[in-house]
Amino acid sequence: MTVKKARSVGPKFFCDACGYESVRWMGRCPGCNAFDSMVEAPLDMTEDDPAGASSPATRLALQEIPSTGQQRTPTGSAEVDRVLGGGLVPASVTLLGGEPGIGKSTLLLSTCLRVAASGGRCVYISAEESASQLKMRADRISANGLPSEFYVCESGDLPSALKVAGDAALVVVDSIQTVRVPTIRSISGSVLQIRECVFRILESAKRGKSAPAYVLVGHITKGGELAGPKVLEHMVDTVLSFEGDRRLGLRFLRAQKNRFGSTEEIGVFEMTGEGLAEVPDPGALFRSAGDSALAGVAVSALVEGSRAFLVEIQSLTQEVNLAMPRRVATGIDPRRLLLILAVLEKRVGLRLGTSDVFASAVGGFVAREPAADLAVAMAIASAVRSSPLPARTAFVGEVTLTGELREPPNVDRRIAESARLGFQEIVLPAPSGRNRVPRPPAGRQIDIVYSKSIMECKAKYLS
Ligand code: TYD
Ligand code: MG
Repeated sequence: MTVKKARSVGPKFFCDACGYESVRWMGRCPGCNAFDSMVEAPLDMTEDDPAGASSPATRLALQEIPSTGQQRTPTGSAEVDRVLGGGLVPASVTLLGGEPGIGKSTLLLSTCLRVAASGGRCVYISAEESASQLKMRADRISANGLPSEFYVCESGDLPSALKVAGDAALVVVDSIQTVRVPTIRSISGSVLQIRECVFRILESAKRGKSAPAYVLVGHITKGGELAGPKVLEHMVDTVLSFEGDRRLGLRFLRAQKNRFGSTEEIGVFEMTGEGLAEVPDPGALFRSAGDSALAGVAVSALVEGSRAFLVEIQSLTQEVNLAMPRRVATGIDPRRLLLILAVLEKRVGLRLGTSDVFASAVGGFVAREPAADLAVAMAIASAVRSSPLPARTAFVGEVTLTGELREPPNVDRRIAESARLGFQEIVLPAPSGRNRVPRPPAGRQIDIVYSKSIMECKAKYLS
């Protein structure tokens, strides 16, 4: 008679809301204080779970591990490939998060259409939309017919869907919150289900070299976090987010984590009637004033990954008699806005203590770089003075607490892009003890103006 061995003693209960683990049941979760949220972890190993078969550990000499090289499946979209670091890596798992309606399904559908058109088999596991809904959308966004290597699996039952998808090059799971493992007694979208589903996908991905690249759609919560347990982000290879202002057409794809490439690059798309269009030359997209000089407007040359963007910063100030005037930042770090306002008040002598201040980056761009500081400061100063800055001048530099300007990295790229887009002048912090003075690229004309401090810059342009 064989005696069935008990599994190792692990956490037996999980909080269904936050993933807190415990060996005993509790009425209230110590992790998130939710009542009655502890559920029992399933102990029974199901037949299709190979993790049950314990295999002895072995060690391998690093030299003897075969190199797999950099095999990647290009997605056919330069913008997606740029963010991924050159294409999809076989046997990898990518998580794509974003607000509802931002275009996650559309992005993945067009990616599958492209990969399938070049002969790579794609399986789209759709638990949110029906096959006919997907087909309707594919008809609309696919200009040159539907490829034969594109398969749709309507099932929400993940283990069986993974079985039919095993031989594909790309498998999309739309979404990880709506698929489920039927043997787990918990509703789809619960922490327990999401954990188990991702675990199953990782297992399929790590099974062989020829395994597909998996892309999972992830919902985000009201606070902007990916819904589900935090371990989700640790478990997968790549975490992408799809962002943008839903009313505006522009969308940005960013990598928050990437085991196979940098997290610096962004992909830029535009949502059109015929699906997502790539924007290969987005340098000049983030401007609305054009060539007309308006008060409260300053342009900065910002770098994201390998590209530079000329981004317009707009500001409006309004004198109010409130004890706490408002400071509203859109696409600008609110803490940097407060710092810039303090410097303008203390060092430049602008009176802003009784004014509402609004500052925003145009076109839904998110100016993450401190190099945008000088343009933000100049836009606010220009708004206060009601005096416009020259339209074809770019302002670049980090503002320090003393009001001095600090040089950002990639100065050459900023100068080159400003020159390419027809700017006449770029204001930069005085170079700090380096031997090479940046120059515009050959054949381009742009004046480089050095400024030591925000005080000097303001005196020159808004005297
Ligand atoms: P969708 O990909 O369904 O968003 P998600 O999966 O992130 O929830 O995109 C939905 C929006 O995109 C929808 O509101 C309409 C818009 N859209 C277009 O404007 N043009 C198109 O060609 C497509 C397919 C969608
Ligand atoms: Mg969707």
